Amino acid sequence: MVEFALPANSRIKQGKHWPAPEGYSKDVRTFRIYRYDPESGENPRWDSFDVPKDACGPMVLDALIWIKDNVDSTLTFRRSCREGVCGSCAMNVDGNNTLACTKGHAECTGKAVNISPLPHMDVIKDLVPDLTNFYSQYATIEPHLQSVTVVPETEWLQSPQDRSKLDGLYECILCACCSTSCPSYWWNGDRYLGPAALLQAYRWVIDSRDEETGKRLDNLEDPFRLYRCHTIMNCAQVCPKGLNPAKAIAELKKMMVERQT
Ligand code: SF4
Ligand code: SF4
Ligand code: FES
Repeated sequence: MVEFALPANSRIKQGKHWPAPEGYSKDVRTFRIYRYDPESGENPRWDSFDVPKDACGPMVLDALIWIKDNVDSTLTFRRSCREGVCGSCAMNVDGNNTLACTKGHAECTGKAVNISPLPHMDVIKDLVPDLTNFYSQYATIEPHLQSVTVVPETEWLQSPQDRSKLDGLYECILCACCSTSCPSYWWNGDRYLGPAALLQAYRWVIDSRDEETGKRLDNLEDPFRLYRCHTIMNCAQVCPKGLNPAKAIAELKKMMVERQT
């Protein structure tokens, strides 16, 4: 029988426990955080940090910033807007992909709050995944308005009805929470575009001003790029903006069928 085992260098080891610094309250919340530094040559590890409850703000991102400022300045993570707008702070908190800046640590009911990078991606360092493939897939859907007959010289208006068709799509912040929760993307991420890029593809396909719908659908006509979605719906469950990429993918598949009939 074939035996599968993780390579020795990918086993996550028990790391260091960092108590709250002297002078802080002993009423703490523990954050168990994935640490990995490829330059050290060491295995990844779980470090745990005791964070005084009265010293940091209510969000998971507040705790990470407090740890970086007060305990371990080498802790590495992405963040920018702190308001759920930029998508930079996407990570896995207690088993769910989410935005650290909009996830309250009081919502995490376990003994410790477990934080790791978005799953099934190469890790650059600690909580920072390598999104190179994710962004290059986004580029393949050509995420910009394309016109053939019209060269607008002023603001290009839409009717309110056409504009409303973009609701539930334009709000996507490309955080990658959906794609990295999708089993099809885990196994075929090199060829399947994944829910985020496909939701964006649909956003341009149904834009009333875009004149390259046929070319856009041709680009998705492929056994892997679109059709690896098996409607598992993880994507819709995790999207921190409440969007439904699975529905957008279903609409794209429907358009594929309709244009053949
Ligand atoms: S659809 Fe939602 S989860 Fe996916 S990238 Fe966009 S905002 Fe993030
Ligand atoms: S519905 Fe499709 S895109 Fe969404 S998680 Fe499932 S397989 Fe992935
Ligand atoms: S920091 Fe921008 S979405 Fe969290």
